[in-house]
Amino acid sequence: MVNRRSVMAGLACAAVMRPQQSFAATAATYEDAVRATWAPLRTEGGFEEIVRYATLAANSHNTQPWRFTLGPRSMAIAPDLLRRCPAVDPNDHHLFVSLGCAAENLTHAALALGLRPTLRFEGSAITADLENASVQQSPLLAAIPRRQSTRAVYDGRPVANDLLRELERAGTGEGVAILLITDRKQMAAITDYVVEGNTTQMRDQRFMEELKAWMRFNEGEAVATMDGLFSRTSGNPALPRWLARPLLPFVFTERGENDKYRASIGSSAGLAVFVAEHDDAAHWVEVGRACQRFALLATSLGLKYAFVNQPVEVPRLRAQLATYLDLGARLPDLVVRFGTGPELPKSLRRPVAQVIA
Ligand SMILES: Cc1cc2nc3c(=O)[nH]c(=O)nc-3n(C[C@H](O)[C@H](O)[C@H](O)COP(=O)(O)O)c2cc1C
Repeated sequence: MVNRRSVMAGLACAAVMRPQQSFAATAATYEDAVRATWAPLRTEGGFEEIVRYATLAANSHNTQPWRFTLGPRSMAIAPDLLRRCPAVDPNDHHLFVSLGCAAENLTHAALALGLRPTLRFEGSAITADLENASVQQSPLLAAIPRRQSTRAVYDGRPVANDLLRELERAGTGEGVAILLITDRKQMAAITDYVVEGNTTQMRDQRFMEELKAWMRFNEGEAVATMDGLFSRTSGNPALPRWLARPLLPFVFTERGENDKYRASIGSSAGLAVFVAEHDDAAHWVEVGRACQRFALLATSLGLKYAFVNQPVEVPRLRAQLATYLDLGARLPDLVVRFGTGPELPKSLRRPVAQVIA
C-alpha cells in the first residue's frame, strides 16, 4: 500500500524530470497519480489550486505547454516553448488552443474561489485579472475533474435536439463559431478527410518521431513524466518499452488506425467543427475556450468527446475541409466527435510546482 507521503515523493521526483525522460521506477503508482491529478477542487488551496484546475484542460499530445505566473491579484498563462510540437503544429496553432482550454478551466476554478477573472491576451500570454466576487460553482466546474478525451468506440445513440442546442451555445465563443454535424452523409465525408490526414501523417517520419516521443507505453513511464499520451488512455494495452517499441510498426499501422477512425466516428452521435473568424493566436485561444466549454458541458450531460483533428493539421486538407464546409475565407480550427461511450483510464498532469514560473 502506498501512503500519501510516498505519493508526494513520487510526484516531487516526477517534477524534476525532463519531458521525454523515462524513469521506470517512482514511488507513486499510476492510480495514486490519477487520484492526485484529478482530486476535487480544494477551495482553501488559493491560486495554486486554480492553476491545478487550469492544467486539467485538454491539450495537444498532453505536452502541457504552459507556464503560469502568479501576481497579487492576477495570474498569467504563457506558452512553454520547450514543449512545442514543431512537426504536427509548426505555427503553434494547437499550442495556443491548449492555452485557451486552460484559461477556460481557470475561469470556473477562480469563480469557485470567489474571484471573478477578466481575461486579456497580450503578446503571447493570457492574463487573468482577479477581483473579489461571490462564490460561484457551476455544473461546468463540477465537470472539470470528470472530463477526458475518450478515444473509444461509442454506442451510436443520437443526442436529443435540445441538448445539441445547449452544446452549440457552449461551443460558441467570441469570434468563434461551432458547426454541429449529425447528418450521416456529411459525417462520412469528413471521415474521409480524417482518414486522408491520418494516412499523410503516418507516412511523415518527422510527425511519427514526434508522436512517439510523447507516447508513454506503460504506467511507469506515464508516472515518471506525468505528461504525454499513455497507451491505456487510447484503449491500448500497457507494455514494457523493450516490447512496445519493436511491436509498434506491427500494431500501429495506417490501415488499422484508419479502420479505427471510421469505426469510432461511425459510432459517434455527431461531429463538432470549431471555426474562428481569423487565423491568429488571439482567436486560437478563444477556440480553446469554446472547445473546453463544449467538453465540460458534454461531460455534465453524460456525453463523451474526442478530437479527430487530422484534417486541420495537414494544411492542404484544412483548406479542402474549409471549402467542403463552405467557410468562405475562414478555416476550421478543431474537429471533435461526441456521443455516449465508456470511460477510459485518465491522463496525468505534472504537479503545479512544475508549471509555475
Ligand atoms: C488543440 C488540441 C488538439 C488535439 N488533437 C488531438 C488529436 O488529433 N487526436 C487525439 O486523439 N487527441 C487530440 N487532442 C487531445 C489531447 O491528446 C488530450 O487533451 C490530452 O492527451 C490530455 O488528455 P485528456 O483530454 O483526456 O485530459 C487534442 C487536444 C487539443 C487541445
